[in-house]
This record gives sequence, C-alpha cells and structure tokens, in this order.
Amino acid sequence: MRVIYQVLEKQITNALGKAFPEAKESQGSLNPHLMRATKPEFGDFQINGALALAKVIKKTPRKIAEDIIKELQKNSEFQKLCLPPEIAGPGFINISIREDCLTSEIQKRYRDKQLAVPLVKPNNDKKELEPIIVDFSSPNIAKEMHVGHLRSTIIGDSIARILEFRGHPVLRLNHVGDWGTQFGMLIAHLKSVAPKTLTTANAVDIGDLVTFYRQAKRCFDEDEDFQAASRDEVVKLQKGDPKTLKAWSLLCNQSRKEFQKIYDLLDIQLEERGESFYNPLLKKVVDDLAKSGLLITDNGAKCIFLEGFIGKDGKPMPIIIQKTDGGYNYATTDLAAIRYRLNPKPEGDGACRVIYITDAGQANHFAGVFQIAKEANWIPEHCRIEHVPFGLVQGEDGKKLKTRSGETVRLKDLLDEAIHRAKQDLIRRLREETRKESDDFIEHVSKTVGIAAVKYADLSQNRTTNYQFSFNRMLSLQGNTAPYLLYALVRIAGISRKGGDLDSEANDIEFSENQEWNLIRELLKFDEIVIEVEEELLPNRLCNYLFELCQVFNRFYDQIPVLKAKEPSKSSRLVLCRLTAETLKLGLNLLGIQTLERM
Ligand code: ARG
Repeated sequence: MRVIYQVLEKQITNALGKAFPEAKESQGSLNPHLMRATKPEFGDFQINGALALAKVIKKTPRKIAEDIIKELQKNSEFQKLCLPPEIAGPGFINISIREDCLTSEIQKRYRDKQLAVPLVKPNNDKKELEPIIVDFSSPNIAKEMHVGHLRSTIIGDSIARILEFRGHPVLRLNHVGDWGTQFGMLIAHLKSVAPKTLTTANAVDIGDLVTFYRQAKRCFDEDEDFQAASRDEVVKLQKGDPKTLKAWSLLCNQSRKEFQKIYDLLDIQLEERGESFYNPLLKKVVDDLAKSGLLITDNGAKCIFLEGFIGKDGKPMPIIIQKTDGGYNYATTDLAAIRYRLNPKPEGDGACRVIYITDAGQANHFAGVFQIAKEANWIPEHCRIEHVPFGLVQGEDGKKLKTRSGETVRLKDLLDEAIHRAKQDLIRRLREETRKESDDFIEHVSKTVGIAAVKYADLSQNRTTNYQFSFNRMLSLQGNTAPYLLYALVRIAGISRKGGDLDSEANDIEFSENQEWNLIRELLKFDEIVIEVEEELLPNRLCNYLFELCQVFNRFYDQIPVLKAKEPSKSSRLVLCRLTAETLKLGLNLLGIQTLERM
C-alpha cells in the first residue's frame, strides 16, 4: 500500500496547507505524520499531525483534527479512496481505505511478478544505476569457516537478494582473508613438515591445513628462528617469488574448495575478491594518507589517531596503517578496498553503497576505517558505506556454540545435522500418517527443510542481538519457524490438488467477510515491508511479516469455507489463496529459502 500511502500523504499535506494557512511559515508543522494504524480496529492509517500542529497554532488538537477532516472531505479524490475519517483520543485521525479500493489493489497485484514492489530507476543525471556492494561471508584461508561466517553468509545473501529484487546491480563480494603474515608462518611450517603440499594440488585436506596452521602459530609464538623464517616467506610472497606464489595459490585453492561445498549446500552466489587483490594498492594508500597529513609515525609504525578512539588505558588509541617492519594491516586493506569500490569505473567499481556484514566485534574496526576514509575525502558525497553488525551465535546454554566434546563446531557438520534431523522428523511423520514416499522425495524435502530451518532461525532474529542455536526450535512445525511457513505453502498447494483452480482470473472478485479483509490488508503490506528492509537492512522484519501473514491466512482458511463456498466467493477466495502463496514464495525467496509443494 505504498502508493496509497504516498497519495494520501500528499492529499493530507494539501488539506493542512489549506486549512491552516497561518501555519505554513513554521517549518515542518504541515507534516501530517501519517502512519500505519497500530491496530486493525483503528482502520488502515492514522494521522498524528494534529497534536504537533496544536503547538504552533492556538487551537486544541481535536479542533484541529475536525478542521483537517472538513478540508479532506472537500476533496473528491480523497472521498473515493477513504471512508469518512474518525477522530480518536486527544486528536488522532483514523483513516480506513474503502473496500472497493482494497479490492482493486488486490487485482493489480495479482500476477504481478514484483507484487507492487517498484523497481529502482537511475537518478535524473545518470544513465546507469550504480552498483551496490555487499561484502559478506569472507572466511579466512587455511582456517575453518565458523558460525560467525555462516551468519554473515545467510544475512548477506538475503540483503543482496532484496537489493537485486529492487533492481539494483549488486556485487556480492567475498573478501576472503587470503593474504598476510599467516601465509608466511604456514608456508615456513609446511616446508619442514609437509613440503609436498606446497608443490602438488590436493595434497592436503582442509582439516589438516587447519591443524598445520595451529602448529605454525605455536612455533611462531615460541621460536625466534621460525619467526624470521616466516617473515622471509612473507617478503618472498609480497615480492612475487614464483615458488612461494605457487604454494600460496595451492593453499588458497584447497580452502576455496571447502568453502564452495558450504556455498553449494546453502545455494549462495559469491564473487571471490580476497584481500590479496588490494595488495598492489596498499602503498598508495599509505602515501596518500601521509600527504593528507593524517599519518603520524609512532615508534616506527605509521598510525592515525582519531577523535573518540580511546584504548582501555584511557589513552588515545592509534590505528596502525603500516607496521614497523613495513607490513600492512587488516585496516590498510579495507582502506584500499573502500577507495577501489567507490572509485568510478573503469578504475574502480563505481559503487554508490557498500554494505559490510560481520559480527559486532568488528564495529570499532569499521568505524575507524570509515572515519579515516571520510577525513581523507575518499567517500563521494552521494555514497554510503555501512557496517551491518550481528550478534554471536550461542548454544542452548547461552554460551559460545561448541560440540559436546568442547570443540568449535564445523559448519559442514552443523548443516548436515540439520538435514539429518529434518529427515528423522519427516520419516516419523510419514509413519504416523501411513504415507509412502520415494527416497528422492525424502532426500529433497529433508535437505530443503533442514537448510531453510537454519537460515530462517538466523534471519528471524533481530541480527543485532546474540542468537541461540537450537535444532529443536528451528525445526518445529509450530511458531515462527521455516517449517511452519513452508507448511502454509504446502497447504495452499493442497487446495489445487483438491480441485481448486488457483489459476483463475481476478476480474469479478467480491469480498464480504472480516477474515477476507484481514488477509487482504496483510497481503497489501508486502511492498512496504520490502522497502523497509532495504533501508534498514533488517531481514527479521520480513520474517515477522511472513509469519504474521501465515497466521492470518490460517485463520482465514480455518474459519471460512473456500472450496465449499458459493460463487463469486469461491473464486475470490481462491484468488486470495494464490496471492498468499505468491507472497510467501517471493518473501521466502528473498530470504534465500527454497519452497516445497509437498512436505
Ligand atoms: N575475514 C574477516 C573475518 O573472518 C571478515 C572480512 C569482512 N570484510 C571486510 N572487508 N573486512 O573476520
């Protein structure tokens, strides 16, 4: 109902201007403060502006509300759209959209692929839309991908999907940690313990690689000679020594293959552009920061001190851009990345918005990097860069998620377990219902439900809070879960199996029951929700909406007849069923969740 909202807002602003010419001068007082009604019994929208206006002109809010209504009722367009408004409380105005207008909104939306969500258009002065970058997933080579990366992957994919659906060109970038001192350590260590891994493909398994990495780290912390050897390797890598580069690329390939298994399982598209990509650009970052006067040399390291960045000891905390030994930091790479991403094509990506999805623990890092980029004037006026933080994944005990033996959980194991449990649930249900299904069916349904459950459990939480990982909760058929939503779709698909025509036209539809109007009103909210998620980057809003929609649909379907109704009610209700299915399917698709016809 975004369009209706916009039309109404204009009509009301006009009415305010006419009714209170004396208020025109005072800025903002003619804002109608139009909101969605907080309860269905208040109608569809609510004008709250009378209360603010009462502070500017000397009348009571109720009197002002009366004057607004009088003025609105002079407008025939308003009258066509809305029932006569009502005053509530101290001076709120409740607005209900006329039923024939709601019906025609349903008709417009029926069979519209966008379900009334508008596609973005380029700004007047630009021919092309500028891309939006979503920097997500971004695990580290030679390390295990962990649950934090899983969250980033799931949230990032959903945000990218929503932006793409709106018509934005989106670059889904995987900023993998594929460069830096860790490779020096790893290569130095492998040279002595497993030299074959540095010259032959597939000579090492990722699990071993992680173990080797841990050993290397230990040697590095304990042994000075090893430290020197590691540094040598880093220097060789940075200089582009062919043998070292080859070893490096073999290690990267090995990790990449492991990551890809997870992405395939989760159905995630990503373009890998790791930290190494920005390596040639780092020197210029340092030089330009020095020129701009931001760099300070502190004990041989090149640093930047920013206002508000105070360490635990209460002293100003530097952000190190280049270490004493000449090496660069995580922050340096991110600065180079910002420049490259915002730089116009063909030198850069020409992006207008960059969205970083990592755990909240990196909030300071990004705040610092963004601040430096701003002070260095690297962020064009019209561009936005934002960190989208999320909380920790915890076990059911509220502590860090661990296996029973106390180790970190491997992602592949976690996803396999979700699928396995979904399968057990399904087999139990089939037995209870004495249903026979093929093995293919069982495999397909368990995989879809298992993955959907993991994704939805993550997305349906407000991402800024920590979230408790619970297989039992996420796989339940009750409550705000993926299986509950998927089941609603199966129910609707069942209607057509029982002979209901879900493919009819929506020309002659008619509604009369409350359950119908409730469902209609819920369906018409979809476009607003999508735009809201695009702005605020909170996919849980979409989850909550879809859950609410399912509940309203289930009430509709349980309380009034559909297939047994008389015409034109029967066809009209089938139109609502189909539109509900389409809204759910699209909504789940925007969350990266596949749907099922039967389960
Ligand atoms: N590799 C990092 C990690 O595992 C995440 C990178 C996020 N993206 C970025 N541009 N810094 O924590």
